[in-house]
Amino acid sequence: MKKNEIDTPALVLDLDLMEKNIRSMSEYLKGKKAKLRPHVKNHKIPSIARLEIEAGAIGVAVAKVSEAEVMAWGGIKDIMVTNQIVTESKITRLVNLAKHCDLTVAVDNLENIKQLSHAASKKAVRLGVVIEVDVGHHRAGVDPGKDAVPLAQATLASRGLTFRGLMGYEGHISLMEKFEDRKHECMKSMQKAIQTKDSLEDAGINVDMMSFGGTGTYNFIADYPEVTEIQAGSYVTMDVVYRNIGVPLFECALSVVSTVTSHPSSNRAVVDAGLKVLTDDQGLPELDGVDGVTLTKLSAEHGHLDIDSSSVPLKIGQRLTILPSDTDTTINLHDQIYGIRGDEVEVIWPVAARGRVT
Ligand SMILES: Cc1ncc(COP(=O)(O)O)c(C=O)c1O
Repeated sequence: MKKNEIDTPALVLDLDLMEKNIRSMSEYLKGKKAKLRPHVKNHKIPSIARLEIEAGAIGVAVAKVSEAEVMAWGGIKDIMVTNQIVTESKITRLVNLAKHCDLTVAVDNLENIKQLSHAASKKAVRLGVVIEVDVGHHRAGVDPGKDAVPLAQATLASRGLTFRGLMGYEGHISLMEKFEDRKHECMKSMQKAIQTKDSLEDAGINVDMMSFGGTGTYNFIADYPEVTEIQAGSYVTMDVVYRNIGVPLFECALSVVSTVTSHPSSNRAVVDAGLKVLTDDQGLPELDGVDGVTLTKLSAEHGHLDIDSSSVPLKIGQRLTILPSDTDTTINLHDQIYGIRGDEVEVIWPVAARGRVT
């Protein structure tokens, strides 16, 4: 099948660009202590995770137990769940999965450590534990410093659990527009992480794993000698928001191909790609390759375009390429991704963990 034979709207991944992004990250981290643990909540596809691992990633990070299940079935051996898993049914699934892969989970409270230990020892499995530190994002995580000490001590004293170290995510920084601001804020957030590591070491606790960083911050976080892992996920598909703030090295590999279905007036047109195939949580997606035409709104089934008087007129039936503003939430809307090389469709990957939110 040729790219222009794919029915629209459709999610399309440029394999050359994706492979280049994987190579660029791998080369960037060469010689550094920090290795990549890609957050595969972005693409949700084990085949892409395996390509990242072949290029040097040490395993994957996931957001949900169900994503971990899909990755383990897809042959991934080292998986970290970057959220707190607190309900009995999910903890049961977690410990069952720990029989099949090296599984680590993030905690930020003592009660959860007790729950995990009880379930892991009952099933005679070992579960890795990292303490999540709030490095300024104010989502989950313990306050930086000594609050992590009782949690690490409890983990070390608990049957079925292995204490690994610390994780966090500086999501409050990743979309900052200025390079210098991102760098400066990363320094402040890493101080919080390092202060927490120091508190644990002062209490005689070994911290092997220090897992931080995303696509907007990898190039600052990876320079800290304390950091062992970078959790960047979006770098591999890459959205226009990260591109527009100047995140280095990566190119937008993912797009939604759409068709112009209506051209009611010379300055307005409509494409068949709306909120059911694109998201606007990080602002509007952008059109690629057409000058003077702007995507101004997404409704459920339609993308609304404004056309400059200077632009070449669009034609009904014309195909337009749209670059997502958030590849993470966009991919989750699709059953499959068309992997293209040049004009040819080379592979169609099911988005295996699509909608896996439990
Ligand atoms: C815990 C954690 N780590 C890493 C990331 C990676 O972010 P990105 O996809 O922007 O690289 C995220 C994104 O939300 C996250 O929540």
